[in-house]
Amino acid sequence: MALFGFGKPAASAERQIPQHIAVIMDGNGRWAKKRGLPRPAGHAAGAETFRTIATYCKEIGVRYFTVYALSTENWKRPQEEVDALLDLFRKYLREAAETMAARGVAVRVLGDLTPLPEDIKRLVQEVSGIADTLGAEAATASLCINYGGRDEIKNAVRCIAKRVKDGELALSEITEDTVSSALYTAHLPDPDLVIRPSGEIRLSNFLLWQSAYAEYYFTPVLWPDFSAKDLDAAIEDYGRRSRRFGGVK
Ligand code: IPE
Ligand code: IPE
Ligand code: MG
Repeated sequence: MALFGFGKPAASAERQIPQHIAVIMDGNGRWAKKRGLPRPAGHAAGAETFRTIATYCKEIGVRYFTVYALSTENWKRPQEEVDALLDLFRKYLREAAETMAARGVAVRVLGDLTPLPEDIKRLVQEVSGIADTLGAEAATASLCINYGGRDEIKNAVRCIAKRVKDGELALSEITEDTVSSALYTAHLPDPDLVIRPSGEIRLSNFLLWQSAYAEYYFTPVLWPDFSAKDLDAAIEDYGRRSRRFGGVK
């Protein structure tokens, strides 16, 4: 097993592979600073890590991989840094449009896309159109762009309130599933494992509703340095947890 340094990772039958892994891709700026590079260089390196880890997830049988790429709060960063992030989204969405069918990975974008530049909105549409054509055997990689957990819940509340106001839904019919179905993640199962690199121990507004019973894994490794081995370590740790969901085991 990779954990013991003997090459190939264990097959999913031998270790417990989470169905859905979500990552808060953090630490790009510090990675760049350590090297005397501008922050955008850290984002470019972090984007490469996304590619590597998404590919590895597919290889080991993780069905859903979701990453936090831009929060609703990240717009307050210097314009130059925001522009560099938008350029990376352009690059990776174009690549996704060209390669996702061959790779068997449906790329999805989650978040409020309203403030994004028109060309990125078109790319997102193109990518989701292709994702819709992929069969059930495809894995899903979701990019959370202009995503905020509170913003998402607020939008869901608005949408549900409108349905009630329009007489389509009775108050008594509102269940937890009604809320889940009104979130950006309506088509995804809840994350089993949420990983945050970079040493910060907080959620920073990521998947607040969906992670109610997720297992969390925090590591000081900065995202651009995060490797398949680090993912193996997180999965190994996950395998040792006892998930009780409020019950007794
Ligand atoms: C995460 O890395 C990427 C985004 C938030 C877009 P950071 O840019 O937050 O890196 P640090 O936290 O400053 O090191
Ligand atoms: C969270 O990281 C957002 C993303 C990784 C996209 P931040 O760097 O924005 O979070 P804080 O500011 O440290 O909480
Ligand atoms: Mg950060």
